[in-house]
Amino acid sequence: MAISPTFAKIACVVVVAMVVAAPAAEALSCGTVSSSLAQCIAYARSSGGTVPTACCNGIRTLNSLAKTSQDRKDACACLKSAAGRISGLNLSLIAGLPGKCGVNIPYKISPSTDCSKYDYSLLF
Ligand SMILES: *[C@@H]1O[C@H](CO)[C@@H](O)[C@H](O)[C@H]1NC(C)=O
Repeated sequence: MAISPTFAKIACVVVVAMVVAAPAAEALSCGTVSSSLAQCIAYARSSGGTVPTACCNGIRTLNSLAKTSQDRKDACACLKSAAGRISGLNLSLIAGLPGKCGVNIPYKISPSTDCSKYDYSLLF
């Protein structure tokens, strides 16, 4: 079967478009999630009080980066594993963080969160 020049051109455009679009479609990485919340760790290890502005900014940034349901699900998994990995965190302080920053997160950030239970297309 001969490939027509028109088909070859279209195929070429499609391949280039896929290559160009690929980085934008990349899932939210755990590194991004952790660095967004780095400013919250000292607060989460403290005995409460005022949430640092930088921490709330990080939470809001994360919330705005997690646009798709898959991003939100990935973010949940990253938060869950970070909550389990970082020692000395006061989990009740962490659970209250999104609310204190005015961000609505449907799940509790905790090592025991079941990230598969939530419908991320409806929430946030
Ligand atoms: C966590 O923080 C809350 C609110 O400040 C406090 O009442 C609680 O005792 C803390 N828990 C731990 C384990 O430090």
